Amino acid sequence: MRIVVSGAAGFIGSHLCDRLVAEGHTVVGLDSFITGRRENIAQLADHPRFQLLQQDVSQPFELPGPVDYVLHLASPASPKDYLEHPIATLDTGSLGTRRMLELALRDRARFLLTSTSECYGDPLEHPQKETYWGNVNPVGPRSCYDESKRFAEALTMAYHRVHGLETNIARIFNTYGPRMQLDDGRVVPAFIDQALRGDPLTVYGNGSQTRSFCYVSDLVEGLCRLMDSGERYPVNLGNPREMTIREFAEQIRRMTGSRSPVIFRELPEDDPRQRRPDISKARRLLGWEPKVGLEEGLRMTIEYFRNAPRPAYTGSPS
Ligand SMILES: NC(=O)c1ccc[n+]([C@@H]2O[C@H](COP(=O)([O-])OP(=O)(O)OC[C@H]3O[C@@H](n4cnc5c(N)ncnc54)[C@H](O)[C@@H]3O)[C@@H](O)[C@H]2O)c1
Repeated sequence: MRIVVSGAAGFIGSHLCDRLVAEGHTVVGLDSFITGRRENIAQLADHPRFQLLQQDVSQPFELPGPVDYVLHLASPASPKDYLEHPIATLDTGSLGTRRMLELALRDRARFLLTSTSECYGDPLEHPQKETYWGNVNPVGPRSCYDESKRFAEALTMAYHRVHGLETNIARIFNTYGPRMQLDDGRVVPAFIDQALRGDPLTVYGNGSQTRSFCYVSDLVEGLCRLMDSGERYPVNLGNPREMTIREFAEQIRRMTGSRSPVIFRELPEDDPRQRRPDISKARRLLGWEPKVGLEEGLRMTIEYFRNAPRPAYTGSPS
């Protein structure tokens, strides 16, 4: 297939492109580089079946040649990024999703949207099933991301209902692995970076809030299975193993051999208190569940960050 991937130079997009090219597909990556990096996709730069175009998908564009599948991943995704670019985030979720859907419609291509567990907001139901409608503050600082994804889901369903487009929606929960940005503010790279530098690990609130972390290869496998499915309604993809942020900080300290202390800072506004996917739908429909354990996934991620350029890092703190 000839597959268009928006957000191809991002963390998840680059791993997905690796997988699609390895499977024999031709991939056209689109990225504005607002949060992505060319290094993420450098391994594919000279591949005859891969092409990377600099394009903001919220702006008009033409893409010549037939398209079989559109995978729409473009969006700032870390709180630090979308709080810095709230309008661009809303434009990408709305105008960008519309343009990617129109591209799919042009060729009657299939379409997949990467949505997010943030659609559930600070959830009142736990764990979160796809049928839960969410508890989102529509005017809080995080709303630029949460609401743009909720709008993107609604738009995707409208294209399916009105035009009969074959669409899929993945609701992705916290995913981690190599190629995350060290300084994007997400808890996995933040703790690893702080531990490797010997800096204090910063926990927001008292650390009792929970998260569930999915390794990126598991997520990519889930996305590929969803692409092949006929499911039109959202499907949760994430790892149901839940832990508190405090426990997670301790795990990172242990695994890096760091003696960094843990310090506590004020909880940001609207920070979800708990997060765990109910993945029974993905298990049932896709035969999918995460395979990579937290220890194994963290080992590979820590290894990546040990070798990633880090100007002020002077060696192992242990
Ligand atoms: N990583 C996670 O834990 C997670 C969780 C839930 C959902 N998601 C979703 O998965 C997708 C990928 O996330 P990620 O973690 O790889 O983030 P990322 O920031 O690493 O990648 C996003 C990519 O999209 C590009 N982009 C943003 N706006 C664009 C635009 N208007 N036009 C073209 N390119 C644009 C960025 O430059 C970047 O390369 C996002 O849609 C995100 O919302 C990720």
